[in-house]
Amino acid sequence: MALYTETVMDHFMNPRNVGSIENADGIGEVGNAKCGDIMKIYLKIEDNIIKDIKFETFGCGSAIASSSMATEMIKGKTIEEALAVTNKQVVDALGGLPVHKLHCSVLAEEAVKSAIKDYYDKNGIEYDKSLFPDDIGCEGCHMV
Ligand code: FES
Repeated sequence: MALYTETVMDHFMNPRNVGSIENADGIGEVGNAKCGDIMKIYLKIEDNIIKDIKFETFGCGSAIASSSMATEMIKGKTIEEALAVTNKQVVDALGGLPVHKLHCSVLAEEAVKSAIKDYYDKNGIEYDKSLFPDDIGCEGCHMV
């Protein structure tokens, strides 16, 4: 069996929603403790809906594919729906990732959460702090 599914290769070769958003409503930047790669997510939010989402990454192919898929899954959703998207759902939508690359998918989930937290903080919106642990890392990974 090939190491990467066709869907992973497609999102890696033609990533969706790459770039930045000027005057973004929320920006999240996280680093993957395991490999040092970095992910940045920009959100445009109107009426609690994620109207636009873009990402930039200095990460591996799996991180790019995961982020691309995550942005596609989150675009047009409410903030609450976006927060409920887990790295496991992203990996499932990609048709799977090799076990040693699962940690790469956590980067996208962490960056989305961090961008939403930034939006809440900037707008003085109250939120449940337990939804946003400082470092999701391996403990927050929903694969295990
Ligand atoms: Fe760093 Fe994949 S090896 S995110």
